[in-house]
Amino acid sequence: MPARNLREALEGKLSDLEVKLLGRSFDIVGDVGIVKIPEPLLQKKKLIGEALMSVHKNLRTVLMQTSPVSGEFRTRKLEVIAGDPNTETVHKEYGCLFKVDLSKVYFSPRLATERMRISSLVRPNEVVVNMFAGVGCYSIIMAKHSDVGKVYSIDKNPVAVRYMHENVRINKVGGKVVPICGDAGEVIEKQLRGKADRVLMPLPESAREFLDSALTALRPQGGVIHFYDFGEDPDPFGPSIKFVRERLSERRVEVTGKRIVRSYAPRVYHIVLDLLVCRE
Ligand SMILES: C[S@@+](CC[C@H](N)C(=O)[O-])C[C@H]1O[C@@H](n2cnc3c(N)ncnc32)[C@H](O)[C@@H]1O
Repeated sequence: MPARNLREALEGKLSDLEVKLLGRSFDIVGDVGIVKIPEPLLQKKKLIGEALMSVHKNLRTVLMQTSPVSGEFRTRKLEVIAGDPNTETVHKEYGCLFKVDLSKVYFSPRLATERMRISSLVRPNEVVVNMFAGVGCYSIIMAKHSDVGKVYSIDKNPVAVRYMHENVRINKVGGKVVPICGDAGEVIEKQLRGKADRVLMPLPESAREFLDSALTALRPQGGVIHFYDFGEDPDPFGPSIKFVRERLSERRVEVTGKRIVRSYAPRVYHIVLDLLVCRE
């Protein structure tokens, strides 16, 4: 009988202890699998990659993540451990297609639910600024699943913006999603002051630093900011709410939503606050 999961596929090839060490966690992006392999199992990486391909028949390539997501462009180092040595793929999410080169741009399939949640909040004809748009995932999901007017979609990584243009074309959302290459703070200052009904800040590592720019992008009468941050047990939201209230002390701020997007490390979470910001 063919193996039903990675654990079964590795039976007899890895000891019980090694299987436990490997864990269950891997991502599938398009036809590429991405695994993290602990140091003691590195000698068996090829075997693990082939086992993953034998379970998921549609996989063309398996990549091993060899560094954490890091740097300004939030990329990671990857090594091909099985299949075709090509890191470009096309991922399908809620009826949208995202072309990405996993070694050159940020992409996570684990944000799919959050992307759809944001899209469900958008009202007809809103102008949205997506400050850290990557290859355009939040913006394109929004353009396909809401009646958004325009989504100005900024990213500093020129390769991500090249894929964003391609994804806008593939998904036929050219009238709605406007890719812009540059630093979010500078782009807002120069061309998007006071334009937005809603601002997305999907970069928890730097959202605090860019909150003033998000406020600059909002219409003078106010609007909504989706503020991503990190939070810890036992109070994952408290410190972020305190920070936002202090930083925006001259505005009336209502926290209309708060949510754990995903676990980031033991007892540490990637969180989001939905902020309704009014003039006074
Ligand atoms: C965590 S990724 C989010 C990507 C995207 N929202 C998604 O869901 O796939 C953050 C993105 O912010 C971009 N970035 C980092 N600093 C930036 C800045 N100062 N201005 C604009 N983009 C920036 C990175 O290149 C990266 O693509």
